[in-house]
Amino acid sequence: MNWTKQQSEDDKQIQSQLNSLGKLPKHIAMIMDGNGRWAVEKGLSRTEGHREGIESVRDIVKASSQMGIEYLTLYAFSIENWKRPASEVSVLMKLLEFFLKAELNDLHNNNVRVFTIGKTNSLPKTIQKLLFDSMEKTKENTGLTLTLALSYSGRWDIVRAVQMIALDVRRGKVSPEDLSDELFASYLQTSKLPDPDLLIRTSGEMRLSNFLLWELAYSEIYITDKFWPEFRRKDLYEALYDYFKRERRFGKTSAQLLDSDLQNRKSYLMRVYDAIKKDK
Ligand code: FPP
Repeated sequence: MNWTKQQSEDDKQIQSQLNSLGKLPKHIAMIMDGNGRWAVEKGLSRTEGHREGIESVRDIVKASSQMGIEYLTLYAFSIENWKRPASEVSVLMKLLEFFLKAELNDLHNNNVRVFTIGKTNSLPKTIQKLLFDSMEKTKENTGLTLTLALSYSGRWDIVRAVQMIALDVRRGKVSPEDLSDELFASYLQTSKLPDPDLLIRTSGEMRLSNFLLWELAYSEIYITDKFWPEFRRKDLYEALYDYFKRERRFGKTSAQLLDSDLQNRKSYLMRVYDAIKKDK
């Protein structure tokens, strides 16, 4: 299915307005939180929350690809998540398997490149194979790079990088004096990804939860109270709108904000915001 053909005219218009506000973030990272609470509030099982969470994943991936976002990284399962009840872990693994099987063709046909970070050798063998096959099939694609963080934690990746650097020092490949931010980052699993420009976290929690600890150093952070299963493309547009407002203030004085060009821009921003809010 071609995602652009499915898109409504209204949606295309909002995306093009957002695009014209400035440079879209090249890389958006997301902490998808609140599946369990969303379900409990509705009197459903946590499983239903995770199931509905997949619908949000689908919509956000599609919208990001349609607007030309280059990198989207989703925190789907942390190393700490292995401590959840075995029954919930098993449901999450089944849903991931279902997602990869059901979506791979659509992702590939829409030029999405699938990538993964994390201690993936702890995942069930079937999922490891599905991930490998998905990455192989999509490796030449040039559109959105969708990175799934699976059995991932930021500290784990940092410690792993330090171990590899220490080994290279022992082998004489690197000397301690060579170490720099760039060299260190080249040992992380995210070395092929630019640092995220924007981090979005759902469900109102103000934590990083061990996600991309090195990479998020300069990212803008956007936190919404919405639970992940209710976070859809219009919420992404609001986050982008907020991102543009912040960019625009960067380094400016209040006197400069009275400048007429900026006033025009302000009224344009308001029109875009109204378009996003319409039908919400
Ligand atoms: C956090 O909600 C969410 C997760 C631990 C898993 C996220 C998984 C999905 C959205 C579905 C599968 C993902 C993909 C990429 C196919 P929570 O359970 O911690 O919610 P709570 O904080 O309300 O308990």
